[in-house]
Amino acid sequence: MKHRNLSFVAALLLGALSAFGENNPPREKLLMDFGWRFAFGHATDPAKDFDPAPASEMFNYLTKSGNAQGAAKADFDDSGWRKLNLPHDWAVEAPFDEHGSSSHGYKAIGKNFPEFSIGWYRKSFSIPASDLGRRISVDFDGVFRDSQVWVNGFYLGRESSGYSSFSYDISDYLNYGATNVIAVRVDATLEEGWFYEGAGIYRHVWLTKTAPLHVARWGTFVTTDVKKNSADVTARVMVNNDQPTNAAFEIQQTIFDADGKTVASGELKKLSLTPGDTANFSSVLKVAKPKLWSCENPYLHKLVTTIRQGDKIVDHYETTFGIRTLRWDANAGFFLNGQRVQLKGTCDHQDHAGVGAALPDGVNVFRVEQLKKMGSNAIRTSHNAPTPELLDACDRLGMLVMDENREYGINPQQLDGLNRLILRDRNHPCVIIWSLGNEEWAIEGADKGTRITQTMQTFAQRLDPTRRFTAAISGGWGAGSSVSIDVMGFNYFTHGDNDSYHGKFPAKPSVATEDGSTFSTRGIYVQDRDHQHLTAYDVNKADWSLLAEESWPHYAARPYVAGQFQWTGFDYRGEETPFCWPAISSQFGILDVCGFPKDNFYYYQAWWSDHPVLHLLPHWNWPGQEGREIDVWAHSNCEEVELSLNGVSQGRKKVQKNFHLEWKVKYAPGVLLARGYNGGKEILTDKIETTGAPTAVQLMPNQATLKADGEDVAIITVSVTDAQGRTVPDAANKIHFQLAGPGKMLGVGNGDPSSHEPDVFLPTENSAPDWQRHLFSGLAQIIVQSTKEPGEIKLTARADDLTQVTLTIPSQPAKTRPAVAAKL
Ligand code: GAL
Repeated sequence: MKHRNLSFVAALLLGALSAFGENNPPREKLLMDFGWRFAFGHATDPAKDFDPAPASEMFNYLTKSGNAQGAAKADFDDSGWRKLNLPHDWAVEAPFDEHGSSSHGYKAIGKNFPEFSIGWYRKSFSIPASDLGRRISVDFDGVFRDSQVWVNGFYLGRESSGYSSFSYDISDYLNYGATNVIAVRVDATLEEGWFYEGAGIYRHVWLTKTAPLHVARWGTFVTTDVKKNSADVTARVMVNNDQPTNAAFEIQQTIFDADGKTVASGELKKLSLTPGDTANFSSVLKVAKPKLWSCENPYLHKLVTTIRQGDKIVDHYETTFGIRTLRWDANAGFFLNGQRVQLKGTCDHQDHAGVGAALPDGVNVFRVEQLKKMGSNAIRTSHNAPTPELLDACDRLGMLVMDENREYGINPQQLDGLNRLILRDRNHPCVIIWSLGNEEWAIEGADKGTRITQTMQTFAQRLDPTRRFTAAISGGWGAGSSVSIDVMGFNYFTHGDNDSYHGKFPAKPSVATEDGSTFSTRGIYVQDRDHQHLTAYDVNKADWSLLAEESWPHYAARPYVAGQFQWTGFDYRGEETPFCWPAISSQFGILDVCGFPKDNFYYYQAWWSDHPVLHLLPHWNWPGQEGREIDVWAHSNCEEVELSLNGVSQGRKKVQKNFHLEWKVKYAPGVLLARGYNGGKEILTDKIETTGAPTAVQLMPNQATLKADGEDVAIITVSVTDAQGRTVPDAANKIHFQLAGPGKMLGVGNGDPSSHEPDVFLPTENSAPDWQRHLFSGLAQIIVQSTKEPGEIKLTARADDLTQVTLTIPSQPAKTRPAVAAKL
């Protein structure tokens, strides 16, 4: 959404003041995440919502341009408000409450909590005098939800979606050579989904500065046509002439390979645009012997588009892309670069321990890495436009993406959401298909569904003719949306018959958009419904859902289906099925909300990855239960596995493809050992030992050093060890954390789906917070973020009667991303 406000007065002044701007770079994208102020407003009482429209006054903030009242006003005193940086999710900071919504994990926000459902954000920033004459916009990657924005008391607009990215042109409202104020009111009263969605400005905010003649927002579209020894790259660019005079210009398009070497370039000369006009230009550039983007070698190219007026470069716009081919086949599935790639995917929401929906970029990267370790090659961004940085991570790491739209329908707002999703994401090589939406029960089997789906596709094909479209359809297969959908999306094979659908539509490709919904609690091996804990054996499911061992073999045996997306990669708050309060989290994840693998992770690893896997469960700490028969499982892709307890063989068994092995073993403390064999030769082992009591705390970061850029994060696993240094798998110690040095604790979690412990500890007026968390099934997680100051971050973790530990993380000098200055 772009709001173009041509200011002719500003443009006239521009001549006189142009000397100010001569040294401006052609384009700047500045991070606007730092130094915000935050306070709660009120959803039902205007007096507590900073009184934006007092009944006694004639004006409210919409009546007169630049005349906003209350906290939207430029000179409102926010000095008492809390200071924070973005991304920020106030829902994750909220306590749990039985009156909260189960969808949102019983957090104390939403319609029963008007006092915690409106968040106001304000930030001062400076704009140099030399910026006068540039076009400046404020760009939000995503705000949950229903946001209204003002700059210097000027109302910019309202965005109801909690997921769509949006932008406002603020050039004409700015104070040049002075301080400016942005105010954002966020209303998280309503829910868009039936899962945890967070609250607040939970994605990045940017300030973009360009010349009046510039590449439009999301203005490039790169497509590739791979030939035998070369690729034709079509680089389209949309240019806006936001100056009040004709613009004559040239466009240069240059493609760089991953080493920064120019591999193709082209020029478009003698171009012109009339005042206020917008037009598309395109060049076809030939890249010889291109390196293709794939999951194994996610090779990225960069297109640099420059606009030149005379000798001056007035815009420099970079587009990352990949050269690769996509093909969907009705009988053989999905092909990347001509090779069949079976989709081994997960559906995922944006929710992580400690940080909720406000995932720092490093947490998105960590999650993609965890899924890759499992052998997964695809993510479905259920059920909404993802954070752009998740797609960046997937581009870099070689993870395929089904990019999903939120609202299904054809009204202007719904089509606008789809439009923005596609324009924003269509250059990402990781995106292999668009999903129009999920489980639209009212229309799935109805004629209206056929028509709505067709209209959405016709609309969207114009925006991206290179990709195909699916929808996650949970019923009415053979009618409704499933008739007109381009690529059939099966949600749960319990909802219909894949084979008869394929028989009826033999020319239509298909994919299992969703399956699974298996429940399991990490590290739990005895059903404990009183604590809402289910075992981590692959045995728990609801009536519509499927065990891992039911759903993967079903689709593995149907090559006409391109693959499947399991519900879900990670646990997320809300949807506490099969429980409700006091459970606060789903248990569908193959990994928990911290990203700690549950045992099914190794089932998928065995059948999805291409390396030998052998994993034993449960743990072997069952004091007082000597002689009890315990189910021991192995997830393995070896040909045979032999299990022994304390050196005594419990039997050697043949592995059946896509299934686990199991033994009944009478418990005796000691060592449970599995040996995996291929061709009669032992190739790997897995061992589980009975441990002693915890004696020491242990901290293990996902990376040893941090970048002192104010954004980087260390995701730290917390556990305890016994006297022999073995991790104690069933420990539940309470751990206290203290941090010294240039870093901060962002959040804690432990993956317990019914824990009501806080994820975040905020300082109170008189005291520093006592950060703490119990271990759950032996583990907890703490996320630590660097500041912009280099130095040693020291995190100390202690528990009663245990040896404490201090982890030192050097935070090294690093380039910070260009950011908006607070002061001139
Ligand atoms: C599906 C739905 C998902 C989730 C899941 C739980 O039907 O698409 O969003 O609710 O059920 O099993």
